[in-house]
Amino acid sequence: MHGTGARWFFNGTEAMRTSRLARSATGVEALVVNGATVSFDDLKVTELPAESHIRPMGSPLTVIAHRGASSAAPENTLVSDEIARRGGAAYIENDVQPSKDGVPYVLHDATVDRTTDGTGRIRDLTSAQLNALDAGAWFAPAYEGARVPTLAAQLADLRSRGGDLLLEIKGAHTRDEVATIVKTVRDHGMTGRVFVQSFEVSALQYTHELAPELPLGLLRDSLDADPVAVAEELHLSAYNPSEGALSKNPGVVKGLHAAGVAVNVWTVDSAARWQALEAAGVDGIITNRPAELSGWNAVWLQRRQTAPDAPAVSLVSPAADARPDRAQTPVVTVRSTGADQVALTLDGAPVSAGQSLDLAGLTAGEHTLRAEAIGPGTTTATSVFTVTASRTGLAHLILTSGAEDHVVSTMTGMLGRGHYAHLATWAKKQAGKAGLSAGRGALIAAEATALA
Ligand code: G3P
Ligand code: CA
Repeated sequence: MHGTGARWFFNGTEAMRTSRLARSATGVEALVVNGATVSFDDLKVTELPAESHIRPMGSPLTVIAHRGASSAAPENTLVSDEIARRGGAAYIENDVQPSKDGVPYVLHDATVDRTTDGTGRIRDLTSAQLNALDAGAWFAPAYEGARVPTLAAQLADLRSRGGDLLLEIKGAHTRDEVATIVKTVRDHGMTGRVFVQSFEVSALQYTHELAPELPLGLLRDSLDADPVAVAEELHLSAYNPSEGALSKNPGVVKGLHAAGVAVNVWTVDSAARWQALEAAGVDGIITNRPAELSGWNAVWLQRRQTAPDAPAVSLVSPAADARPDRAQTPVVTVRSTGADQVALTLDGAPVSAGQSLDLAGLTAGEHTLRAEAIGPGTTTATSVFTVTASRTGLAHLILTSGAEDHVVSTMTGMLGRGHYAHLATWAKKQAGKAGLSAGRGALIAAEATALA
């Protein structure tokens, strides 16, 4: 248990989790289960070390609702937070900025123009002016009446309703402005449930000076040359790159984990990308679709419980040690079980299952087909086959060469008589003339030489 989050492990595998652990003012803990009474016996309570935000082995991705459930409700409002919470988000991500009179409000843009019925920069508007704005009608009529929440209202709501807060200090802030945010968090008794992140290095430095107990995340839209060094310098608990930035070098996750730093990636709404990021080992996904990611996590967990530890994969065609000639067009065929995705390459270049291989386009000799099956773990299979010279293959090369009839006829005549050495010399000379391309001429010559 940390804050309102709890995970149950059975023999080292996560069996259940919640982000809605209720805690009374006097510290009594209770698990809220709809319609059920739950009792626990023989509890042994052990103090845990400071929470690591690195995803334990066997646990699904941490669901972080970007500006609340912003695909379903107006961003950065209490209603979008409620939908995110009910959709299974562990964290709600909100942006904070001060009003003209210094009150921290939850708003993403520098102005209120896009997400309210008002206009103007938030830093030029007083609390009274901000409180009067409608922050819901722009999204849909059903949300008319939603307000721009103060950070204080946001924290009070989270405290009573559940969910932890990934609080982005948006834009440059003075030390005093950060101090106001920290005081608000402390006044609400929420330091154990707030994670601060920012693109602004100075905002993180001020937060660390003022409240070293608050975990910090650095937002980046491109990777640092040495993310671990940056994390150490800024006392980070998390390094939070954009999806585009991480995809340039997913290998940074390993180094950050070794340094005890979690990696949360923004803003990712596609299941295909969740799959790739889970395989890359990232810890959390900041998404506009928290309910969908929670559902995806549930399926992921279910598959882990029912699937074998690692997927199985084998290559059926071209089979290992096969010696196809150039008249054949083998179809890439792979068999796999328990895999979410199978990536295939031929000599390092991507190919697809079901693709016909044009052997006339391959050099004679060995070629390697490789399959990588990704599921709960990764399994690979390789097939090394040999493109081989044969009389039939040579006939195929001649007949599909596109050369003029008299050239084809001369070559097939030589082939019929078994005059391979002559054919090789003749094809070399003829290459580039009368419809016989230089490449195909050279290939016919090489094949004939091999048969001579
Ligand atoms: O949490 C990451 C993400 O919120 C950063 O971008 O512009 O949505 O605040 P933005
Ligand atoms: Ca944000």
